Amino acid sequence: MTLDISFTPHPVGETMAHEPWKLSAELIRPLAADFNNGCVFLANVRARDPGAILPWGDSNVQLKLLDRRVCEPSSPAYNRPWTEAVEDQIQSVWRRIQAGELLDGPVVDLCDFDAIYDEEKNDLRVFDDWTIEKFRYDCMLRLWRTEVSAYNRLRPLQGHGIPRFFGTVQLRRSDIADSENLHPLFYHVPGLLLEYTDGQDLYHFSEAETRKDDTTGTFPTDEEQTHGRAALDVLRRAHSLGVSHNDIRRRNIIVRPNGSYVIIDWGCALLRSASQTDADWTEGLTKPQDLHELRWWLWGRWRYDMSPWAREPEPKYGYKHANERIEMFVRNKRRRAQWFEEIPFREPGFEKRIVDGEEIEWHYERWRLRPGVHTQDMYDGKLL
Ligand SMILES: Nc1ncnc2c1ncn2[C@@H]1O[C@H](COP(=O)(O)OP(=O)(O)O)[C@@H](O)[C@H]1O
Ligand SMILES: [Mg+2]
Repeated sequence: MTLDISFTPHPVGETMAHEPWKLSAELIRPLAADFNNGCVFLANVRARDPGAILPWGDSNVQLKLLDRRVCEPSSPAYNRPWTEAVEDQIQSVWRRIQAGELLDGPVVDLCDFDAIYDEEKNDLRVFDDWTIEKFRYDCMLRLWRTEVSAYNRLRPLQGHGIPRFFGTVQLRRSDIADSENLHPLFYHVPGLLLEYTDGQDLYHFSEAETRKDDTTGTFPTDEEQTHGRAALDVLRRAHSLGVSHNDIRRRNIIVRPNGSYVIIDWGCALLRSASQTDADWTEGLTKPQDLHELRWWLWGRWRYDMSPWAREPEPKYGYKHANERIEMFVRNKRRRAQWFEEIPFREPGFEKRIVDGEEIEWHYERWRLRPGVHTQDMYDGKLL
């Protein structure tokens, strides 16, 4: 299938003065089986004017379209797909609003529990289709604007851990004429044109493919560890450029064939505002949360060993959980030995004690951190 698209290159710079470029996009294949907010395609995008030189040359690119008609609804308040019947219905509402027969209300934030909950009925309020679709369109525009702003701020990282962002795309349904004077949600689809990363998202890498050789401690490899550290660094650098990804999960982490990572989907990003001080921004909870989540997902796929957490004995259990964390989380035994010395302990590894009249098992410390090894706090993004 081939689509006609209007394309505005970024950074906008001098091209701002010109009309958007008219391009044609041949869709090669979808990159995602289930669509969330957009539909993402591998595409061959060419100028309709044969002489034009495009920033991506002959390479195929990633075309992300934010199209409500195919996206998955995800909230109880607007949990239904787009259908022709809905479209007909809301078009007639729109026409009545235009004719002055109906009053149009504001966009209701259907993700805001207070806005959708009816206290009197003790239930969720029921919304009409027009309100739902206006909200969906508003959401998609916000996601699109956020992703565009994030990529623009992250220009120094583009091509190094995040895709290159070539520019924005506007698609217009050709079967709806300007003269119909419809609300843009009926015909307008915003999009982004991005560098295509060869690879698959982390979701595809099941735990089953683990190298099972636990005894010799050959996993994760040093190379994987280096790639993981580089990906964490991408998030750190993004934070310093005023962008927190805010949606780190397996589907948004692409693994290249050489094992390195590309972080995609910056539509939910938090952007530092001009009025935020360094302290306001740094203390925002999500900043270390991004790093924590990335470590977690990579660890879960046996691709990364997390550096040790600070270990304090607990009053009831002593070092029980601290020991378990080290044994569970640092899976490469060679690396474990680089970080820790084993402390000889008496079997069974704990002693019975009485605390507040209760008999407890107080566990001995089994691992001593070697001098100079950094630890991380569960939610601290600074150390690795
Ligand atoms: N370069 C890529 N290589 C492989 N899969 C990709 C690539 N880009 C996107 N995808 C797939 O498309 C999905 C949706 O892309 P994404 O930008 O995350 O959109 P959404 O906002 O809908 O989540 C990703 O989760 C991933 O599975
Ligand atoms: Mg995504």
